[in-house]
Amino acid sequence: MGAISACIFDLDGVVVDTAKYHYIAWKSLANGLGFDFTEEDNERLKGVSRMRSLEILMEIGGVDLDEETQLKLAAKKNEEYLEYILKMTPDEILPGVKDFFEDLKAKGIKIALGSASKNAMTILNQLELTPYFDAIVDGTHVSKAKPDPEVFLKGAELLGYDPENCVVFEDAEAGIEAAINGGMRCVGIGSPEVLNKANFVVPGFEGFSFEKMESGLK
Ligand code: BG6
Ligand code: MG
Repeated sequence: MGAISACIFDLDGVVVDTAKYHYIAWKSLANGLGFDFTEEDNERLKGVSRMRSLEILMEIGGVDLDEETQLKLAAKKNEEYLEYILKMTPDEILPGVKDFFEDLKAKGIKIALGSASKNAMTILNQLELTPYFDAIVDGTHVSKAKPDPEVFLKGAELLGYDPENCVVFEDAEAGIEAAINGGMRCVGIGSPEVLNKANFVVPGFEGFSFEKMESGLK
């Protein structure tokens, strides 16, 4: 594998914990349809696109809805989600993320975003993190969902680096598979039992550094 020139970050669950807001909005949609939606159910939606999330939700509730209704409900869910997102502040950036970004910048490493979310720009702006990114690829730029590597390959291309010079940071299994499918190394953020396909896993960015990443990847 080549030298590390760029780091590509997933957003939800890596830079910020938005899962709790997704959960509130999906739960109120499910309740409106007459069934419950638990936090455990919510785990299944991590890293999954908005429309696929709705399909999983329908499966859980045992409901069948036509396409027009699905689009309407997904838009309604997003409206509620946005109410929470628009109240977010930089205080919600996960611990250690900003220090790690600063460390990468100081070492001349490029930073990209590789997220499935169509709300990524809104979230980055709320967190005041947009200026850190040299390239941003989100759910509005891709047609294939993770584990397809499209989102990360586009990020690498925008930065002008080969996949072997990029490291992906991901909290979802599908995202780790996407990185591997794209020929990139991958650091899992979360638990090693779930993210066992990553090169290595850390619980979060607190105390993490470029050196620790390099030695973990060796
Ligand atoms: C991913 C989240 O980052 O984005 C998923 O992990 C979410 O839970 C997906 O469904 C799409 O997000 P959005 O903001 O476009 O609805
Ligand atoms: Mg994620």
